[in-house]
Amino acid sequence: MKSAAIAAAVVLLALCLGCGKGEDSFEQHVVDLTGASPEVAYVALNCAKCHGVEVEGQRTAPKLTGLSSRWTEDQLIAYLRDPKAVQAATPRLAYMAEQFPIEMPAYPHTDEAVLRGLVGWLLAQ
Ligand code: HEC
Repeated sequence: MKSAAIAAAVVLLALCLGCGKGEDSFEQHVVDLTGASPEVAYVALNCAKCHGVEVEGQRTAPKLTGLSSRWTEDQLIAYLRDPKAVQAATPRLAYMAEQFPIEMPAYPHTDEAVLRGLVGWLLAQ
């Protein structure tokens, strides 16, 4: 009985290593994306999970095509760093956020060069 309780505690502890993610997902800190292609970064940073592998959008997040008609590279970097702040200043984004069940996460710690590569690629979609 006692060993079963210990086993349960170990399982809970293991599960809890993945919790406390907050706004910033765990993968961003364990995956080294130095020199990675934008396509690899897009998947490794979980963008694909929400926005779809073909940037086509899905129930969880909008499509990421035609972004260049309303975003510059610097604006997109600022958005990825702190989506909530940009949303607060942009009615269109605030409205868009209401259409989706989950929030766009912040990427405050992701390497600048990786984000620039990713954003450049996205603006060409
Ligand atoms: C957990 C799901 C999720 C993940 C992961 C995610 N997003 Fe989002 N994203 C959203 C949602 C939902 C929105 C809609 C706005 C909102 O709710 O904040 C959004 C909005 C956006 C927008 C604005 C689209 C527009 O039409 O102006 C861009 C650009 C974007 N995401 C890029 C990315 C990139 C790049 C990544 C990966 C680095 C990423 N997202 C990761 C859910 C996600």
